[in-house]
Amino acid sequence: MAQFWKPGAEKPRLLDDGEGGVLFFSSSYSSSSGFGFSSIEKQRQRLPVYKYRSAILYLVETHATTIIVGETGSGKTTQIPQYLKEAGWADGGRVIACTQPRRLAVQAVASRVAEEMGVKLGAEVGYTIRFEDLTNPDVTRVKFLTDGVLLREMMDDPLLTKYSVIMVDEAHERSISTDMLLGLLKKIQRRRPDLRLIISSATIEAKTMSTFFQTSKKRRGLEGEALEPKVEPAILSVEEPPGDILVFLTGQDDIDTAVQLLTEHDRNDRKKSELIVLPLYSGLSRAEQELIFSPTPRGKRKVVISTNIAETSLTLEGIVYVVDSGFSKQRFYNPISDIENLIITPISKASARQRTGRAGRIRPGKCYRLYTEEYFINEMPAEGIPEMQRSNLVTCVIQLKALGIDNILGFDWPSPPSPEVMIRALEVLYSLGVLDDDAKLTSPVGFQVAEIPLEPMISKMILASGDLGCSEEIITIAAVLSIQSIWTSSRGAQKELDEARLQFAAAEGDHVTFLNVYKGFLQSNKSSQWCHKNFINYQAMKKVMEVREQLRRIAQRLGIVLKSCERDTTVIRKAVTAGFFANACQLEAYSHNGMYKSIRGSQEVYIHPSSVLFRVNPKWVIYHSLVSTDRQYMRNIITIDPGWLTEAAPHFYQYRQLTHMPH
Ligand code: CDP
Ligand code: MG
Repeated sequence: MAQFWKPGAEKPRLLDDGEGGVLFFSSSYSSSSGFGFSSIEKQRQRLPVYKYRSAILYLVETHATTIIVGETGSGKTTQIPQYLKEAGWADGGRVIACTQPRRLAVQAVASRVAEEMGVKLGAEVGYTIRFEDLTNPDVTRVKFLTDGVLLREMMDDPLLTKYSVIMVDEAHERSISTDMLLGLLKKIQRRRPDLRLIISSATIEAKTMSTFFQTSKKRRGLEGEALEPKVEPAILSVEEPPGDILVFLTGQDDIDTAVQLLTEHDRNDRKKSELIVLPLYSGLSRAEQELIFSPTPRGKRKVVISTNIAETSLTLEGIVYVVDSGFSKQRFYNPISDIENLIITPISKASARQRTGRAGRIRPGKCYRLYTEEYFINEMPAEGIPEMQRSNLVTCVIQLKALGIDNILGFDWPSPPSPEVMIRALEVLYSLGVLDDDAKLTSPVGFQVAEIPLEPMISKMILASGDLGCSEEIITIAAVLSIQSIWTSSRGAQKELDEARLQFAAAEGDHVTFLNVYKGFLQSNKSSQWCHKNFINYQAMKKVMEVREQLRRIAQRLGIVLKSCERDTTVIRKAVTAGFFANACQLEAYSHNGMYKSIRGSQEVYIHPSSVLFRVNPKWVIYHSLVSTDRQYMRNIITIDPGWLTEAAPHFYQYRQLTHMPH
């Protein structure tokens, strides 16, 4: 199984020949992709990465770690795993893994590779994302998975023994899971010299992977302005020759809004409608994904409105024009207030260049940047901040603990998070009863919480529901919370949506409202018409059913008693409190505008207009998450009795009471 780099192939630039091999190619596209009738094999050979096939195999053979940098669309993700397979790295029952930060990219890439290899997805080529496993351990040899799933696999198989090569793809995205993986894989390599690692990414900055790694500067997130109004004219002004359009907005909400606006506008246009407007964000169904990748019919123009998912992890053929809003939604965490929220933030220059690069793959294209050159130069940071350094690390810490890494502060991170953030995470985990005085996982609670593939607060809520006798309800709630939204978005029909929502509204708040929706869905026999009539997203409900089943199975395995409380909302709310006590807020006594203060940090927060408790303003609430636009808004809220807080987390609230608890 020896591979040699054949001279004659274009010589790759080797940046470093020490411990790791680095391959850096920025070859221009050798093909157009109006492939016409050319065979799949021909198409594969036209990809820029093909020239480096032997070089890559040579580097992998001779180096423990190979770093590969190449343009988006050059074939890294779809081709390299196949090259490895062809070269024998999957012989003898071994598996080649390729990780992606995004679920949707995992699915899209796996199905593409299965198609190229002419095999059924789920057999020789498969994928695993959370709550969805399309692999067969006996036959799957090339496996795509999220980096989060690979981390979970380490809990059962710490040395990842079944894998011969692990390709950590999209490493420039610097997701928390990617960074954790890189740190852990480095450790594994010491024990498994045979394991091969490929770190691949799209941007030059990824050089930092091999050497610098710690170049990021602290930067505060700026708040974005409303983006939609600017986007519509921008697209409609593309009075350009045919070619598809890719628009970068920030999140599901504004994307859905823009899709609706454009679709309506196009429909009302007196000329024959020519636009096919499609959203692109994680959580789309397979059918919706297929639309995005399918060729645009003649005479039509596809407009794909996307989050930064289309920046590097997916390549869409046929895009000629790009509209870049200049923003993305990013998580930011403040360890002092202990608040994490999603903030619309200017993208980095590196991202802006990537977005621009999506234009004109098939012929010269254009990028419309909805910001000035001055803004680009002065306001946009050169690079983004790794997620690790702007997030709450509760989930990350519990995972490391579960992997037996005790010295969290001393862990070898690509970009170390601040000690305050780590300590905060330890404190929360201690309050949840997950860690003991020695910062070790408690038994059984700590191990059980770590076992459930959800954030620790949700997992704790599920555990508590077993004792409180409401696990069936809480598992439904957990499933709904794991989905972006079960409501359809409703530009122009806000009133109808609000009315539909009101039918299900429960005085106790959104969590109980979800139970009403779920019940209605079951009573309708899971009907899509029923969903449509009630402004409920049918695909989301189907996903809820799936996740729910998986969570029930996990609960059973962990010995959690599956039981319904028959709508005793007190126990349901107590179970939520057991997990989310840290998110308790109290209405300001003299507030006329619905201002709440968080108990732990005295932060000003408000109820999100999408909540059934909007304008109801109960005195004590617990929220599930925060979103920040002009203010901090609490999303998914439930009413509580403040007495439950000290019951659920005596340590946490006795201490707080002395310092911050309002009177
Ligand atoms: O990973 P990288 O960005 O380097 O490229 P890739 O994802 O491997 O894509 C290589 C080629 O496959 C591009 O021409 C894509 O358009 C094509 N592709 C596709 O047609 N459908 C997919 N689902 C994925 C890739
Ligand atoms: Mg890729």
